[in-house]
Amino acid sequence: MTDTNLPARLGEIFRQLHRHPELALEEFESTRLVKQVLTEQGIELVETGLNTGAVFRIGHGNGPVIGLRGDMDALPIQEETDLPYRSCVPGKMHACGHDFHTTVVLGAALLLKEREAELPGQALVVFQPAEENTKGAKLVVGSGAVDAAQAFVGIHSYPSFPVGTLGLKTGPVMAAVDWFRVVIRGQGAHAAQPHKSVDPVPVMAVLITALQTVVSRAIDPFSPAVLSITHAEAGRANNVIPETAVIEGTVRTLRPADREKIRECFHRITESVCAAWGAGCEIDWDSAIAAVINDGRLCDVGREMAAEMGFAVKEQEDTMGGEDFSEFLQNRPGLFVRIGTGLSYVNHHPRFAVDPDAIWPASRYCAALTERLMRETF
Ligand code: NI
Repeated sequence: MTDTNLPARLGEIFRQLHRHPELALEEFESTRLVKQVLTEQGIELVETGLNTGAVFRIGHGNGPVIGLRGDMDALPIQEETDLPYRSCVPGKMHACGHDFHTTVVLGAALLLKEREAELPGQALVVFQPAEENTKGAKLVVGSGAVDAAQAFVGIHSYPSFPVGTLGLKTGPVMAAVDWFRVVIRGQGAHAAQPHKSVDPVPVMAVLITALQTVVSRAIDPFSPAVLSITHAEAGRANNVIPETAVIEGTVRTLRPADREKIRECFHRITESVCAAWGAGCEIDWDSAIAAVINDGRLCDVGREMAAEMGFAVKEQEDTMGGEDFSEFLQNRPGLFVRIGTGLSYVNHHPRFAVDPDAIWPASRYCAALTERLMRETF
């Protein structure tokens, strides 16, 4: 029995989520809405112990357990669209389409529920909180609620593709993200007596320049990597040599070996440059998220399914942005699919918008792909 009103109902849910964006770890109303809609249909809630987000289980088959993940959180951006359902919360907006992801995955859960008796395996449908601060996936994985999943599918809105087009690609599709902060410890003095100081400012200048050579000299030019220093700060007065200088930034890589090599070079260069001038240094290195690497076999199945369902398929465009979906792929294969949501401003732009016509076909695709993967062997 298919609910013929489902596409319209999903449209309403999407507009409701869009009007009421909630930031990372504050997705209380969105979570309440999802739980209400799905438990009303008798879908089993899996306990996570988390305040926001939710995991549901569908199916009784003995075949593979497939995870399907959508994220829920919004961004601290003032919406500038003219949509009739634009955000009614000042300074908050669904500018990355996570309202779309929540709706699509919710629709897929309802479709899977309709086929529950026939499902050869089980689906674990994940509504993940806090993607934007890269904390949510770790929380869900850490809760143990998705331990049984043998493969994971994730989706993302893509405003460079029209509705009806999917982006699929084997291999790395989103970068690993590392954050760094270096405190250079010198010795302060009067600006007129540099010989009595260990001035951290020229050390910082040399260090910034030296770090520019890490990617260009240590990494294969055919392998994408980025090292950006985004914040540099030292001193407050024009007549005082400061004690310390600070730099901060981020590293993006697609390949684990590059990630490790950059980290190693960064430490060696930073420690050596500081030592050369008698300064000390403290390096904080946060390996925030791994790269999202699409499994070849899952990608082939995703393409077949897309062709069967009448989607156009394009190669995903490369990006050095990060996605914590990678947390779900640490010990199992996965597939991250970009879903064309109609041409629009880019993700995180105050005029970013999703065409709601993309919702229903995406829900059908996610449900069909999840079921299809239950017929694979893992
Ligand atoms: Ni996003």
